[in-house]
Amino acid sequence: MDIHLTVDQKLCKRCYACISECPFDLINADSDGFPQLRKAALRRCIRCGHCMAVCTADALDISISPLAESLLVNKDLLPSPESVKHLLESRRSIRTYKKKKANHSVLEAILDVSRYAPSAHNKQPVHWIMVEDPAEVKRLAGMVVTWMAELKVFPGLIRAWDKGVDKVLRGAPHLAITHADALGSEHPHEDCSLATAYLDMAAYSHGLGSCWAGFLVQAIHHRYQPVIDALEIPETNTVYTALMLGYPKFRYRHIPQRDPLTVIWR
Ligand SMILES: Cc1cc2nc3c(=O)[nH]c(=O)nc-3n(C[C@H](O)[C@H](O)[C@H](O)COP(=O)(O)O)c2cc1C
Repeated sequence: MDIHLTVDQKLCKRCYACISECPFDLINADSDGFPQLRKAALRRCIRCGHCMAVCTADALDISISPLAESLLVNKDLLPSPESVKHLLESRRSIRTYKKKKANHSVLEAILDVSRYAPSAHNKQPVHWIMVEDPAEVKRLAGMVVTWMAELKVFPGLIRAWDKGVDKVLRGAPHLAITHADALGSEHPHEDCSLATAYLDMAAYSHGLGSCWAGFLVQAIHHRYQPVIDALEIPETNTVYTALMLGYPKFRYRHIPQRDPLTVIWR
């Protein structure tokens, strides 16, 4: 990988934030005390961009994440601890959706935010399939029901489907699915789950409801080919998560109880 680090010596305060924050110690100080990239960076830089992003004087630029293209962190836009707590605690899994579709631009915006989820070694291995067409989501739900019928599992869900009630994808108009190359990434399951959790919260912040679609993922993990073929998952890749999306028919008024925290403090 070609990679260049440039330091504006007039601006650099030699605070060494870049040196401290580099995850793999790939920056050291030159004979004048200015940061420089070690040769090992060519092999080991994970393209996190932290050196540029943490620089206290905007003095450092790196080719893999140019300073000119990076947004400044806006403290005024950061939510308070109370807001974050309320956002996290009030999100619910939604199982009844309005027929209304989400705008393409909203789906694009929430997917875009998911790129900022942490990933092991910053590999960013997550690929998305967004099933935007409600008819296609329904078709997939039907395939999962057929899979259940073939295996003779979840008879209640099959009966419901036969009566016109979708308990698999809950009549959601949209479905977001993650997949990743299991061999090309270090922790693809965690990476996909985190990206999905980001999508989940971003969706909620836009007024969308969501619910993890476990049955669909189960069918794929059982290698149920019709679903795999319908989604056109590359052979190298594994599906890890799926999330139903749509506008909630009902608004939750209360936050339900959860188990008490279990933690050992040492
Ligand atoms: C991996 C995973 C798979 C899930 N699969 C389903 C599912 O197939 N259908 C469903 O209705 N809910 C599913 N859920 C949602 C959980 O039931 C839900 O998160 C839990 O009951 C807590 O409710 P809350 O999300 O509203 O706090 C799944 C959740 C996770 C994390």
